[in-house]
Amino acid sequence: MSAQAALITGGATRLGRHFAEALASAGYDIALHVNSSRQEADEVAEGIRASGRDCEVFSCNFLSNAAEDDLGGLVQRVKARFPHLNVLVNSASAYEPAPIAETELAMLETQFRVNMFTPLLLTRHFADAVNEGRVVNIIDNKVAYHQYPYAAYLLSKKSLADMTRMAALEFSPRLRVNGIAPGVVLPASQRTSDYIQWRIEGIPADRQGHPDHLVQALHYLLDNAFVVGQILFVDGGESINLEGRHSENYPG
Ligand SMILES: NC(=O)c1ccc[n+]([C@@H]2O[C@H](COP(=O)([O-])OP(=O)(O)OC[C@H]3O[C@@H](n4cnc5c(N)ncnc54)[C@H](OP(=O)(O)O)[C@@H]3O)[C@@H](O)[C@H]2O)c1
Repeated sequence: MSAQAALITGGATRLGRHFAEALASAGYDIALHVNSSRQEADEVAEGIRASGRDCEVFSCNFLSNAAEDDLGGLVQRVKARFPHLNVLVNSASAYEPAPIAETELAMLETQFRVNMFTPLLLTRHFADAVNEGRVVNIIDNKVAYHQYPYAAYLLSKKSLADMTRMAALEFSPRLRVNGIAPGVVLPASQRTSDYIQWRIEGIPADRQGHPDHLVQALHYLLDNAFVVGQILFVDGGESINLEGRHSENYPG
């Protein structure tokens, strides 16, 4: 394999860490983006270097006042350090649940800046920096629904799904842009086991996902040259579970 390098946003923790370590195992050098989890990022980077790949940590707060310059600067710094940069994984995310009735401008700004504006601008700067490459946006299977209790978050992710398709059109064939829509994989720490079990009851595969399921999806999207502008739902079929009401399931 010729030299390859991936920039992974939110790569220090949770799913982002899985993506970083999996791509390092597959032979990529890793530009590990971090915001606040600096210690975790250093640990991940040390592990990747010990495994024989190159890794460097790049800090950037996507909510900083200078975000636009910062995002262009981030890609430039990564490109200078890893001239063979050819993959961008937008995994960083902000998550603040609230229905529309409780949604403030600041909440909308935070969710959209981290979950949509940043992936869009990073994709733009990545497109400037590389001749050929691949982008994978990490979305959410909730985009299949209209779950208004997560209004700002979900609207930002729906917008990210549309941006994924638009960027795929605009930048093909030089860049291949795709997305992954995970279901229940690593629930937030406040979720109880009863809640997770209840969610599993609505999943046709009758199980929770594992980060490896998402890693497999990432490899597939990165490796398959004929897949463009797709959102791959990796959720055990939860999001196709939209049967709705009809005469045959009417309990009356
Ligand atoms: N976990 C799941 O089961 C699940 C389900 C559906 C969708 N997803 C999606 O999959 C992706 C990864 O999920 P996750 O659960 O691992 O994500 P997460 O824990 O919610 O957050 C991932 C990263 O986002 C970064 N981040 C947050 N605010 C930031 C800011 N202002 N500037 C820069 N970075 C910021 C954080 O970096 P620092 O820690 O360095 O601050 C964090 O490491 C997300 O896009 C999420 O929406 C996950």
